[in-house]
Amino acid sequence: MPPALSGLAGALLAWGEEARRDLPWRRTRDPWAVLVSEVMLQQTQVARVVPRYAPFLERFPTPATCAAAPVGEVVRAWAGLGYNRRAVALQRAAAACVERFGGALPATLVELRSLPGVGPYTARAVLAFAAVGADVGVVDTNAARVLARAAAGRRLGAVQAQRLADALVPAGAGWAWNQAVLDLGATVCTRRRPRCEACPLSRVGACAWAAAGWSPPDPADGSAGVGAAQSSFAGSDRQGRGRLVDALCTAPVALADVASTCGWPGDPQRGDRVAVGLVSDGLAVVEEGWLRLP
Ligand code: ADE
Repeated sequence: MPPALSGLAGALLAWGEEARRDLPWRRTRDPWAVLVSEVMLQQTQVARVVPRYAPFLERFPTPATCAAAPVGEVVRAWAGLGYNRRAVALQRAAAACVERFGGALPATLVELRSLPGVGPYTARAVLAFAAVGADVGVVDTNAARVLARAAAGRRLGAVQAQRLADALVPAGAGWAWNQAVLDLGATVCTRRRPRCEACPLSRVGACAWAAAGWSPPDPADGSAGVGAAQSSFAGSDRQGRGRLVDALCTAPVALADVASTCGWPGDPQRGDRVAVGLVSDGLAVVEEGWLRLP
């Protein structure tokens, strides 16, 4: 590792030991529990995941228990997290673990990637954060921002970011290193107003962008995986879909009531579109004029 990057690695690892957030999924090395947490965290904020994580695992402590449940029960346990199709994908991944891996999560990147809904980020998170403790770089949107700003000082493509992330992991420290990167991205090296005065890297001259005087553009802008701001939720199809799934968690909904349940009483076509989406995503079935959870 070049000297500048090894300074960065040492400073960040030391900061991580002090600043690490105490989060429930950091107290386990069980690969299934780690997978559950990482799928939940993909599109939902930490504060909203914390209260849902333990109850979900109490109900589904293993891939086998999750695979054996009706889809609707997994969706109910997911309630409140949003993006409910993740619940369906997680159950399909659990079923694949039962069918192909003896009920356990596999322990290689290729096998993990073969599970439904498990992409490059989630697979590496399981490798780094569960029992394997592999020295792989975990690149989510927060990590991608830290890499572009601090390590590269320029915009990164996906392949470059992954390569750099892998190269930076201090040997034997995959777990602690990646948690520190995620924490820095979430709490200090934030999207809009990075708190560089509180950053363990800019303080010791180990952030490439700070060393360049924060010259524009922000290297995170346009870097792969950093993501654009989410489109507005209020008034979106996603909002109506969320309302409909919430209602279905309680009881079936008559097809004639779908649009009003979504919050669009005057727009049955929009309601139909959302209902069709739920069915094709495996989140609902239609039966004798009713929509219900599978
Ligand atoms: N976001 C994604 N994975 C995370 C983790 N392990 N801890 C905190 N935030 C995360």
